[in-house]
Amino acid sequence: MDPTRTPTTRHGIRDPAATTAPLEIRPAGRPDVTAISRLVTANVGLGHLLPRTPEEIERHVSRFLVATLDNTVLGCGELAPLSERLSEIRSLVVAAGSRGTGIGTAVLAALVAGARRQGVPRLCAFTHVPHPFVAIGFSIVPHTWLPEKIMTDCQGCEWFRRCEQTAVVIELGWGQSGPRGTARTI
Ligand SMILES: CC(C)(COP(=O)(O)OP(=O)(O)OC[C@H]1O[C@@H](n2cnc3c(N)ncnc32)[C@H](O)[C@@H]1OP(=O)(O)O)[C@@H](O)C(=O)NCCC(=O)NCCS
Repeated sequence: MDPTRTPTTRHGIRDPAATTAPLEIRPAGRPDVTAISRLVTANVGLGHLLPRTPEEIERHVSRFLVATLDNTVLGCGELAPLSERLSEIRSLVVAAGSRGTGIGTAVLAALVAGARRQGVPRLCAFTHVPHPFVAIGFSIVPHTWLPEKIMTDCQGCEWFRRCEQTAVVIELGWGQSGPRGTARTI
């Protein structure tokens, strides 16, 4: 599909609602690796995403969801385990021309739903754009609340200690009994 011919919103961006095909959120497969890699790489230079090699994406492609419209991949996101109790949403990205139309939120919500199904108790993300996360129930927390992330990625990152990303967390495992025994449902 020629993206330049796609209907746009009043903000001048692609409007999925104005196309004939519905937006589909589905598990990624090996044929999606190149599209995912392009989406991620386009945002690495801006300091928004950690770099991912195509080999790494291919190795973990089963953890990714993609958003497609007319079989074109417009967005993606990965649910990656950091420890037994904590997983991270990584590489959440929507093609620049398709932002602001709900695709990011749709991928995010599907990743959170997948984490719930897998019984992940706690989910985090490091992001320059906390708004979509907070809008669906994440809370902003200090980076130091997530030592698993610091040990896994931050210490080796060129942005370590000068990182401008916001850490966000959502507790998914409080359905039966919350922290300190408080009953809680999110
Ligand atoms: C973050 C990103 C995935 C959001 O995707 P999107 O499809 O544009 O998001 P949505 O259309 O679902 O917007 C959700 C909300 O976030 C807001 N939002 C989206 N991008 C924003 C930005 N850059 N700054 C502030 N708010 C933003 C939207 O206005 C919307 O808020 P509203 O519902 O109150 O109107 C997309 O901007 C992106 O790919 N950014 C570059 C990569 C990145 O930073 N990824 C996050 C790393 S985990």
